[in-house]
Amino acid sequence: MHQRSRRERLEHIGAVLVVGSGKGGVGKSTVSVNLAISLAKTGARVGLLDGDAYGPSIPMMVGVRKRVGAKSEAILPLAERRDLAAEKKIQPLLRYGVKLMSVGFFIGEEQAVAPLPDALGMLMRQLLFSVNWGELDYLIIDLPPGTSEPQATLCREFELSGALLVTTPQDIARIDTAKAVTMFQRMSVPILGVVQNMAGLLCPHCGQMVEIFPSSAEPRAQLDDLPLLGRIPLDPVAVTNGDKGYPIVVSLADSPVAMVFSDISAQIVQRMTLLQHAQDADSETEQEPDREEDSDEREA
Ligand SMILES: Nc1ncnc2c1ncn2[C@@H]1O[C@H](COP(=O)(O)OP(=O)(O)OP(=O)(O)O)[C@@H](O)[C@H]1O
Ligand SMILES: [Mg+2]
Repeated sequence: MHQRSRRERLEHIGAVLVVGSGKGGVGKSTVSVNLAISLAKTGARVGLLDGDAYGPSIPMMVGVRKRVGAKSEAILPLAERRDLAAEKKIQPLLRYGVKLMSVGFFIGEEQAVAPLPDALGMLMRQLLFSVNWGELDYLIIDLPPGTSEPQATLCREFELSGALLVTTPQDIARIDTAKAVTMFQRMSVPILGVVQNMAGLLCPHCGQMVEIFPSSAEPRAQLDDLPLLGRIPLDPVAVTNGDKGYPIVVSLADSPVAMVFSDISAQIVQRMTLLQHAQDADSETEQEPDREEDSDEREA
């Protein structure tokens, strides 16, 4: 069993939230970007770290493009140097009120980085420590699909405040997402809930939800027992705008999809506040026996 208390707490960052799923292409990056911006809109200080070194999507989704042949070289300051002076750190980009960092900012958009799987965790550690995040209320980490690296390093070494799982309605996606749930539970990372993406299509004529992918009838207890934070419909505009650098919560802030994101961000704020209170109460009770021991000694 992993002791949460032994894990590193990132200084100056209120809550570190990871957005994951066992499955690829279900909308993790879309959810991460829109959630980060929705949280920033509430006045929170928010950072977004692209945890996907093989296929970083954040740059395109926030409109930072590096075309083929763009000359680039990046030397990250050593991760071990945690006391790195702020001026020696890499400055995150600021877009839509969110501080952003992605491996994709350093390479052309069709260029590939191919770190060995073992190096992915180290790369995350480096980006966490060598980026000048400043004071943040929330740092969101957009994870790649799967349950290997860098997920394992992040869960093992850092105190993660919560995980959000993104899935689509099909059983094939739900099976893989259930695996991710098991991983987070084994590593004692609190799971905030599930976001169901591409959950039907909102008919532009009648406003009714049309189910596109058949919902799985197969029960998956790990998933079904978790809070459902929201159902995001398929929205073609989410793709055309979202993949061109105009996330839907910015380009169509009053759309039904944007409303779901703002509702999810409100729930996250609420859950994080509750978790924080519970942790504060836990640490108070942990101190109680000492006081009792003291009084026993006094009575003796
Ligand atoms: N609700 C939605 N409606 C329509 N298109 C969507 C929706 N959510 C995501 N998409 C589109 O689906 C594609 C995949 O989404 P995204 O990149 O967010 O998935 P991902 O889970 O991060 O993928 P990967 O596993 O590769 O990291 C993108 O083109 C995105 O714009
Ligand atoms: Mg992604």
